[in-house]
Amino acid sequence: MKTADGILYFDNAATTYPKPESVIRAVTYCMRESGGNPGRGSHTMALRAAEEIYACREEAASFFGASEAEQVIFTMNTTHALNLALKSVIRPGDHVLIGSMEHNAVLRPVSALASLGTVSYSVFSARGTDAQILSGIRAKIRSNTRVMITAHVPNIANTALPIDKIGSLCRQRGITLIVDGAQSAGHLPIDVGRMNIDMLCVPGHKGLYGVQGCGMIVCGSEAITHGRTLIEGGSGVHSLEAGMPDELPERYEAGTLPTPAIAGLSAGIRFVKQQGIASLHRRECDLWRRLYTDLSAMPHVRLYDSTPGSVLLFNIDGISPAEVSEKLNQRGICVRSGYHCAPMAHKTLGSIDNGGVRVSFGAFHTERDVCRLRDEIWNIARQ
Ligand code: ALA
Repeated sequence: MKTADGILYFDNAATTYPKPESVIRAVTYCMRESGGNPGRGSHTMALRAAEEIYACREEAASFFGASEAEQVIFTMNTTHALNLALKSVIRPGDHVLIGSMEHNAVLRPVSALASLGTVSYSVFSARGTDAQILSGIRAKIRSNTRVMITAHVPNIANTALPIDKIGSLCRQRGITLIVDGAQSAGHLPIDVGRMNIDMLCVPGHKGLYGVQGCGMIVCGSEAITHGRTLIEGGSGVHSLEAGMPDELPERYEAGTLPTPAIAGLSAGIRFVKQQGIASLHRRECDLWRRLYTDLSAMPHVRLYDSTPGSVLLFNIDGISPAEVSEKLNQRGICVRSGYHCAPMAHKTLGSIDNGGVRVSFGAFHTERDVCRLRDEIWNIARQ
């Protein structure tokens, strides 16, 4: 899928483009017809906005296996969701587990808490068979391990952690499981109840095809109930009290929510449901296989992970990732290069020296798009 001026976009792991027409219509309809402030006032326009928000909570709760719409807490993005989830439950003296493929959205909040000296953390290996990963996790659990926060799927490789098995282990050991679903939501099935996920943090604008401006925590348990807040302010309920309300989701949603983005997210989730997660994933894997096979045959092209999925990381010997992405950009192709805010993952994959070039697929790509990308990579590699 190209822009009107022919630009071919392969950076869907950063944000999906284009958005489905249904999402664009939902956002503009909301701005035209439901333009009040949700939960602030009882006039028709405020109520319409509140209905848009509630409809999205219901859609998201059912999509991710939460039993109640109130278990969906809206945030600005996944990073905000991860910070809130972690900081709401963490206590001084706790030990935290993170995986070896984390994005900075996990590493930095944990590291910031650790630098205050009140919390410690360990890293488990997120590579290998399920049994190896689980035994690695068991070996790192301490008597004070209270939280695990980890990516379901990293942003530069397609290997998914066995979250259902990790969820059972965490539940047995009394560890709160927070999952970073930034790269898996909309790509793989996720059920917070069945997988024993306490808090699932997801973006609206990536695999769910909404617009930028909102993310969510989908709660699979009561772990966050009565937790610490990140920000305080108006919630539209219990206004006479100085403290934030106890109820979910209002406790964690101080200030005005981005109603148009949330209306778009409802339509995005419906789009993913209509397409079917399995079918979207199959298409991405087919495109991935096509590109991987062709790049494998090119001399000087280095590949890092052989699991099919929505992202493909590569390098060309002797040319920096930034230079490759700039050359592709000059040819009208958008990819992301560098460290992708994920130094841990690059270290684990062996690409920490220079980072890499990441291609990421979306629902609207065709095989022809992939052939054009492959041809341009070939033109750069053979120079
Ligand atoms: N986390 C996003 C990415 O991987 C922005 O590009």
